[in-house]
Amino acid sequence: MQPLFLRLLRGSLAIAAFGAALPALAQTMGAAAPGFTPPDARAIPDSEFGKAVRKGQDIFLKTGKYAGRYVGNNMNCASCHMDAGRRSDASPLWAAYVLYPAYRAKNGHVNTLAERLQGCFQYSMNGAKPAAGDETIVALEAYMFWMAQGAPTGVKLEGQGFKRLPPAARKADYTRGQQVFQKNCILCHGADGQGQSVQGHMVFPALWGDDSYNWGAGMHSVSTAAAFIKANMPLGKGNTLTDQEAWDVAYFMNAHERPQDPRFDGSVEETRKQFHDASDLYGQTIDGKVLGSGSTPPGGSLRAK
Ligand code: HEC
Ligand code: HEC
Repeated sequence: MQPLFLRLLRGSLAIAAFGAALPALAQTMGAAAPGFTPPDARAIPDSEFGKAVRKGQDIFLKTGKYAGRYVGNNMNCASCHMDAGRRSDASPLWAAYVLYPAYRAKNGHVNTLAERLQGCFQYSMNGAKPAAGDETIVALEAYMFWMAQGAPTGVKLEGQGFKRLPPAARKADYTRGQQVFQKNCILCHGADGQGQSVQGHMVFPALWGDDSYNWGAGMHSVSTAAAFIKANMPLGKGNTLTDQEAWDVAYFMNAHERPQDPRFDGSVEETRKQFHDASDLYGQTIDGKVLGSGSTPPGGSLRAK
């Protein structure tokens, strides 16, 4: 017979272990993912740690200004991770923080959060990777950690990532997408998807072309873009397009040239085979042109610096 305290201890450990397994269990059983609300932005502490958090927030909101050495386009992290990385269904930071380290099929190994962030600079920002211990990465991690305080780790929270749409009822179509674009997007993103700047400051980000994300970025996938657009665009009117309109306009947007995939090995066909799947448009022929064959090298404005 074991002493009582040992039995009690074992009992409470078992309960703790069961409790920790509950969210994951609930998810495998198809129950709703747990929700989470990040702390108010005004609650960032006045401390050395708080300084790093604030710096991460600055970088996230004005990436070219505060981390320009690593940025090759005119975007900010918050151009896609809306509301300073807080908004559900726009890949919020609090939901991302608790999912790393994680295996990623994109590069076939377990990625630390630092490596995940490096990828954002290299692909979405068409720039260059900061070193893992660089103050840019440390500040972004501090901002994410602060925002996720109190959230359970290893759990997919409600609102994580971009909410996937059901498969398109009709195959996504360029011409229909163009019509959706002309009706709903030009006002801000420009007739040629080039975005708009006022006195050198980007107000509306580019959707394609040299100042946009490159062919290796998550947003170049039509299904990811459709999910983002459905929930978040037109700005302030998320969830007003039909699913079909979101699929069509995502297809149209990603059927345009953008900076080269940084993993390009000299052949669009080979790069497509190695790194792209059947549903994305890199290497496909649209309007008689092979997408990716007219791309400028990755790195954008960094190459001129
Ligand atoms: C052009 C849009 C875009 C920009 C700009 C962008 N991201 Fe992302 N980000 C995405 C997409 C799309 C994904 C999801 C990728 C996927 O599903 O493959 C993502 C994923 C992430 C993730 C992982 C989310 C998760 O839940 O696993 C983090 C963290 C992240 N981005 C941080 C950043 C940071 C930091 C910056 C700025 C340096 C940035 N992103 C810039 C589009 C963008
Ligand atoms: C009222 C202005 C407005 C309209 C209309 C609008 N957008 Fe946006 N869009 C923005 C802003 C601003 C951002 C950057 C997010 C932010 O700063 O909060 C953005 C970001 C984006 C992004 C991610 C960043 C990038 O440039 O890749 C995509 C993709 C996008 N919009 C697509 C669309 C599509 C497609 C439509 C039409 C269905 C559309 N937008 C309509 C203002 C607008």
